[in-house]
Amino acid sequence: RDVLLNAMCITVIRDKLKNAQNVLLHKSYPYSIPLSYCFFFSFSVYKVFENVAQKYDIMNDAMSLGIHRLWKDMLLHAMHPQPGARLLDVAGGTGDISFRFLEYVRSQRERQQRRAVRFGQTLSYQDISNSYSTIETDGPRESTAVVCDINKEMLKVGKEKAESLGITAGLSWVVGDAEELPFDDDQFDIYTIAFGIRNVTRIDQALQEALRVLKPGGRFMCLEFSKVTNPLLARLYDAYSFQIIPVLGEVIAGDWKSYQYLVESIRKFPSQEEFKSMIEDAGFYCVQYYNFTGGVVALHSGFKL
Ligand SMILES: C[S@@+](CC[C@H](N)C(=O)[O-])C[C@H]1O[C@@H](n2cnc3c(N)ncnc32)[C@H](O)[C@@H]1O
Repeated sequence: RDVLLNAMCITVIRDKLKNAQNVLLHKSYPYSIPLSYCFFFSFSVYKVFENVAQKYDIMNDAMSLGIHRLWKDMLLHAMHPQPGARLLDVAGGTGDISFRFLEYVRSQRERQQRRAVRFGQTLSYQDISNSYSTIETDGPRESTAVVCDINKEMLKVGKEKAESLGITAGLSWVVGDAEELPFDDDQFDIYTIAFGIRNVTRIDQALQEALRVLKPGGRFMCLEFSKVTNPLLARLYDAYSFQIIPVLGEVIAGDWKSYQYLVESIRKFPSQEEFKSMIEDAGFYCVQYYNFTGGVVALHSGFKL
């Protein structure tokens, strides 16, 4: 009887260990990631951005020769947001996407107001003045942008930048993890993540969260470094990334390692097609991507239906 009991105990313990192992392995991502690794990975990503926060914007300009501004402008151009839209910018860092978004909807609103006035040019001065006040009161509600980032140092630098640029209306800053967003379901019209998703440990989980917080009809947009398609450009890009960027990191930010990590994380990120499939698997529709600068960066877009 003792032998039988011992055998039963061993079976129960073995099953429990198997279950624990299954919990520790995330099967949904192409590569299984032990939780201990997730913790280490997230912690080191946190340290990287804590280290670079103060110099982040200068380094962005230096590393990309200012081209990151064009990529971000192109994201806004593709988004074409209308007044009243609500944006959630995840991994929003120092707020570049949200600033552009608020500026874009402001100019859209002004354009619409001018058009409305031009449309009523045959009216009297009083009618025109009334139409201005009608647009103000009955017009679309204010657009809002929420910058959400796991790193409070990055948000702090962003807030200071917003104040110096005089951008405060409609803007809020929230500390939060892309894998577990601190927002209710169906809240936002647009979800953006620019140069952030490759830093997230469980990308599939972040995509699920994006789908959850978007309203039906809402749009997911991701700007990320990707795979260069032209072999000659790929070689130049590799040489530049591995030999120049860490040096710039050391000279400008005094931090070789963080920039070495950034370059390596870019190479590990899935290709355009692989990432497109991941977005579709998460439940988005009409998923498309556009390559910028020969695939150095790709913009992926999908809709929640
Ligand atoms: C390269 S920066 C991009 C910042 C900004 N979107 C831009 O385009 O300039 C990456 C940002 O992702 C943030 N991040 C990394 N992991 C995250 C996570 N799990 N959830 C939210 N933000 C995260 C970092 O703190 C950092 O601010």
